[in-house]
Amino acid sequence: MRSPKDFFRPLALGAPDPVREIPFRPSRMIHFLDPSNPKMVAKVPDLVPQVDVLLGNLEDAIAADRKEAARAGLVAVARDTDLGDTQLWTRVNSLDSPWVLDDLITLVTEIGDKLDVIMVPKVEGPEDIHYVDRLLAQLEARAGLRRPLLVHAILETATGVARVEEIAMASPRMQGISLGPADLAASRRMKTTRVGGGHPGYLVRTDPVGADLTQGRTTYQQDPWHYTVARMVDACAAAGILPYYGPFGDIKDTVACEDQFRSAYLLGCVGAWSLHPAQIAIARRVFSPDPAEVAWARRVIAAMGDGTGAVMLDGKMQDDATVKQCRVVAELADALAARDPDLLHAYEAATKEALA
Ligand code: GLV
Ligand code: MG
Repeated sequence: MRSPKDFFRPLALGAPDPVREIPFRPSRMIHFLDPSNPKMVAKVPDLVPQVDVLLGNLEDAIAADRKEAARAGLVAVARDTDLGDTQLWTRVNSLDSPWVLDDLITLVTEIGDKLDVIMVPKVEGPEDIHYVDRLLAQLEARAGLRRPLLVHAILETATGVARVEEIAMASPRMQGISLGPADLAASRRMKTTRVGGGHPGYLVRTDPVGADLTQGRTTYQQDPWHYTVARMVDACAAAGILPYYGPFGDIKDTVACEDQFRSAYLLGCVGAWSLHPAQIAIARRVFSPDPAEVAWARRVIAAMGDGTGAVMLDGKMQDDATVKQCRVVAELADALAARDPDLLHAYEAATKEALA
């Protein structure tokens, strides 16, 4: 058995010390960029101020003959772009692919100081994270990095879901986990060809109202991702890392995208992927608490004083537990407002009105 102390020793001589806490940095949208596409790369300076995370994608959606161009394109983007406080992430190729070793060697050696998080696809268990963990330490030492790179796993195989707690706790580098509904559907042999979202066939129906079983019975579409998102959120919360909804593939259906993102937000996710600029504003709206909710949370916190006992506010009972719920919302609002002046104003105005 490994001593807990070993987790906080670097895995290679000269590598930076592992982090002890995963810092909460706003990451409401992880915006996917194809760095092999010069047209998209040309838009990067306009995109950067709009997104919390820019991710250079090297894996799926990049054709085999574009893999090297994508890797080189990401190196150039990292070198040539002023990212301000927008994070730069990458999704490398899967660990069984012929590209991942060069992805990691090139990126850590050339732009390791610019990258924040490395997203690893198709993670099946802690051994996948351990492999990346050691390799990153060796490369960090070689590159002379001062700050350890963090690792993000995509939950997109049935085995990965069955072992999600082990994955979440595999290394102090673990920053978070995203749901990968497309690969996960294939891995589980689910019969949907959609990328995330609901399916009209996945439903419940009200009871029969007469002899005719087909009449007068309302159906409600259900969320096939509920179980996985909830499990992922628990695993991440237990490990002190961050959960994310992944991609929503129907770009035109902005309404269903917003619904899916909001369900994930309410269950505990902090962000989602944006695959198209149209999804950036959706993620910003959904993953930033509503000003009225923030104002309410601050009212409860103020009314609860030292956080113990019970008070009634607008006919609703408040106690030690509800003040903790309200702190979750208020702390998230503070962290986001520090980056987003529009939100700061909206939260201040709503709070002023609620406390008046
Ligand atoms: C994302 O990578 C997915 O497979 O949904
Ligand atoms: Mg995938």
